[in-house]
Amino acid sequence: MSDDKTSNQMWGGRFASGPAAIMQAINASISFDKALYAQDIQGSLAHCKMLAETGIIAREDQEKIAHGLNTILREIEAGSFEFSDKLEDIHMNVEARLAELIGPAAGRLHTARSRNDQVAVDFRLWTKQECLRVAEALKGLIAAFLERAEEHAATLMPGFTHLQTAQPVTFGHHCMAYVEMFSRDLSRVRDAIERMDESPLGAAALAGTGFPIDRQMTAKALGFREPTRNSLDSVSDRDFALEFLSLSAICATHLSRLAEEIVIWSTPQFGFVRLSDQFSTGSSIMPQKKNPDAAELVRAKTGRINGDLIALLTVMKGLPLTYSKDMQEDKEAVFDAAETLDLMLAAMTGMVRDMTIETAAMKRAAGSGYSTATDLADWLVRELGMPFREAHHVTGRAVAMAESCKLALDRLALADLREIHPGITQDVFSVLSVKNSVNSRTSFGGTAPAEVRKQVRYWKKRLAKA
Ligand code: ARG
Repeated sequence: MSDDKTSNQMWGGRFASGPAAIMQAINASISFDKALYAQDIQGSLAHCKMLAETGIIAREDQEKIAHGLNTILREIEAGSFEFSDKLEDIHMNVEARLAELIGPAAGRLHTARSRNDQVAVDFRLWTKQECLRVAEALKGLIAAFLERAEEHAATLMPGFTHLQTAQPVTFGHHCMAYVEMFSRDLSRVRDAIERMDESPLGAAALAGTGFPIDRQMTAKALGFREPTRNSLDSVSDRDFALEFLSLSAICATHLSRLAEEIVIWSTPQFGFVRLSDQFSTGSSIMPQKKNPDAAELVRAKTGRINGDLIALLTVMKGLPLTYSKDMQEDKEAVFDAAETLDLMLAAMTGMVRDMTIETAAMKRAAGSGYSTATDLADWLVRELGMPFREAHHVTGRAVAMAESCKLALDRLALADLREIHPGITQDVFSVLSVKNSVNSRTSFGGTAPAEVRKQVRYWKKRLAKA
């Protein structure tokens, strides 16, 4: 390969200096894997300490290496470290600088190790840390919802199916639905951490090593539960990254549903919530408008995270064991999803905390659309012993009557209701109001305020231990 100005006329246009430059451009990952610098140095420190403790390298060399690595860490954090594309990735950038700093002893660091197990351990450490961050963010979002749920345990709102008014519920109950969803996300994060908590360091290139290394020691030093049990799998597995992306995609999906509800609720037509100025923008041309941009962006960013998941699934699909360079393409998807999810969770937590709940508008809407029709049918079953199917039919006639005289169900005259069925008595009005309807739904997990408060207490206790 030449490094001179002989770039191929047909395909070398963008590359000034021939095939070598093209190879370097496609091969280098330093532009993104420098994000792994802290984990790379942490892994190297643990590795060289173990090498000294097992007598594989001399103590003086270990001390020099550790000193050099700590210097590099400081240089990177101070922004004075010069990353080079020519050195391909973070591992070689660090190692080359180490040689500059401490001379030949640097060459001993890579004993009983390969970049294959090195990158695997770095990336696991990074992903595990990110999972812990996501877990904390989820706990913050769940806590925000628990606050709102407690405050609005008895705030009436319509419950929807098909986005049509179905039965009245409380806003607190609706909030608690999201507590369930985000708590499942949290438990998925915990599960993923549990599975990725094994150190691949010491698998070396793929087959293990003949040096008397101590993998338990490095696993423990790096905060892993134990070392992985198969060297081939250790360097070729990226399940931990796929799991992170999958749980991120599911969590983003939950966030996007919430985002969509906030978008709908904040329209003047619904008017259920008002977003704070911090999470909305005005229109440059229509002064009356307040746009729910943050919610819309949360909704949209879900697409990116889904894309990241599909990207890595596609990279990994069909790869033979063990390491292939394809796997260098694992990082950007994970970094992008992580940054995106962190932002989405932060924005959502802010919105949920800050938004004003328009209780009057919610209550008004809760009574529209004959939302207590099921309560009427249930009353007919309970009080008159009617089979449910017949009760459904009778109720249908009452709704038709209310519709034709443009009245709410609880505004119909008793005489009119008795024309539909003579067994109906004054008592029926006790279930036709929205409030009574909600109060009556006391089944476990139902929308009655007392039940909602019970669930809030349950989750508060559980969250404290999560
Ligand atoms: N930059 C590489 C990656 O991220 C490191 C591992 C390289 N290993 C190798 N045998 N070329 O995958």
